[in-house]
Amino acid sequence: MSAQPIASRLVIDYRNATSAAVGNQHGVSEADLDSVAGRVRNEHERIASEHAAHVQRWQDLPDNTELADEIVEFARDAHERYDDFILIGIGGSSLGAIATIQALTHPYRNLLSAEKRAGPRFFVLDNPDPEKVKATLETVDLGRTLVNVVSKSGQTAETAANFLVVRDAMYAALGAVRARTQIVATTDPQSGLLRQMADQEGYRTFPVPPGVDGRQTVLSAVGLIPAALTGVDIHALLAGAAAMRDRASSADVRENPAYLLAALSVLSDQKHGKSMLVTMPYADSMFGIADWFRQLWAESLGKKFSSENEVVNAGQTPIKALGAIDQHSQIQLYTEGPNDKLIQLIAVEQYRASVDIPNPPDDIPELGYFRGGELGQLLDRERLATSWALTSAQRPNLTITIPTIDAAIMGEFYYLFQLQTVMAGALYDVNPFGQPGVEAGKNATYALMGRGGYDELKAELLNSPEDAGSFVNRP
Ligand code: PA5
Repeated sequence: MSAQPIASRLVIDYRNATSAAVGNQHGVSEADLDSVAGRVRNEHERIASEHAAHVQRWQDLPDNTELADEIVEFARDAHERYDDFILIGIGGSSLGAIATIQALTHPYRNLLSAEKRAGPRFFVLDNPDPEKVKATLETVDLGRTLVNVVSKSGQTAETAANFLVVRDAMYAALGAVRARTQIVATTDPQSGLLRQMADQEGYRTFPVPPGVDGRQTVLSAVGLIPAALTGVDIHALLAGAAAMRDRASSADVRENPAYLLAALSVLSDQKHGKSMLVTMPYADSMFGIADWFRQLWAESLGKKFSSENEVVNAGQTPIKALGAIDQHSQIQLYTEGPNDKLIQLIAVEQYRASVDIPNPPDDIPELGYFRGGELGQLLDRERLATSWALTSAQRPNLTITIPTIDAAIMGEFYYLFQLQTVMAGALYDVNPFGQPGVEAGKNATYALMGRGGYDELKAELLNSPEDAGSFVNRP
């Protein structure tokens, strides 16, 4: 099924991030934007030519409607056969799926009846936390459970360990032959330990597209399988991403929404001391995408070396916050603490539910302002009030407004944020792909767990100074 082209619907209002609103010291000026316009144009050309040379392949994911067809078919069959679905993966191999499912399915989906739920219950095993893993195995019905193990590299310790535990439980409960039919692996088409295991044991597999980092895989089988399993319209997700790709095709920093956001964040950091970027949706269901973006921004931009191999220690710390809850937790800090943040608010014009606030008792006139009110209206006005309060305190902020929360809008966000991140990498002059800092920790874990080939690192790690005890506080 080829996607029907649709139009982008997301609106970015960045007035409150400008010097006109929050002053020259804190806000981005027209001159600031002009100063990066030529660079953005050049980087746009570079990214386009890299794409033509089959790099930047994440940009092609919205076109993969054939894969989406295959996944829809797979999900249709799985809906018949399974009551429970366990996703095993971490970082880029789970955060996108979590964000999509949180945004687009019922907040208490697992508690709904099978008829109302559209697909099996959904469980995620990302952390190798023994308490959660044990509890998950105690909760699901293994005979009616589909397991999707997701790992691009095929060797991430957390995922491998969780998978071995679940696989073992399935084998014990169902026997190897049947258990294998209930496991689907999403991994590199050619290489890696998970690929090897899947081939040996005969699991059905879907590809993690080569040339795409884990955090860019939300629109590949990595993110689409869990989404389709939980009843999300994955073709609409892809269509939304394609709509944003069309809209974000200009080389002009003011016209292209992704480049605009990239320039605002990098300029806010480099010229105005905003070393942190807060993403604060005013919708519970959008907290997951703030988490997904947090990983994307952190792993892509937090880099030691520039493209010229100079030490730059670049990056802007991403923070996730949730309106209105964090007005009662973080906003005090954001408004009066260090003026070191750019805050991107996400506004929803039309929530998917409307709940009238009942009239308060007549003898409590102080609550009279709720008369005729509605919860979504209150939440959105809180967002507006926060934006005003931040601006009054010269705290730069911008608002991304969406008409409502649906699959196409999520697709738009995914594409927008990914292109924003790639351009921000260019403006920071770092490579937004790869994650050498993560790999260092992964290798240290292998060493500590005694994996072959890591003996030297293990010796280094375990060689703590004699006097370590004097730095340890014990009861
Ligand atoms: O963005 C990335 O590549 C990483 O965050 C990975 O997704 C994460 O480390 C998990 O790796 P893998 O999918 O190889 O198990």
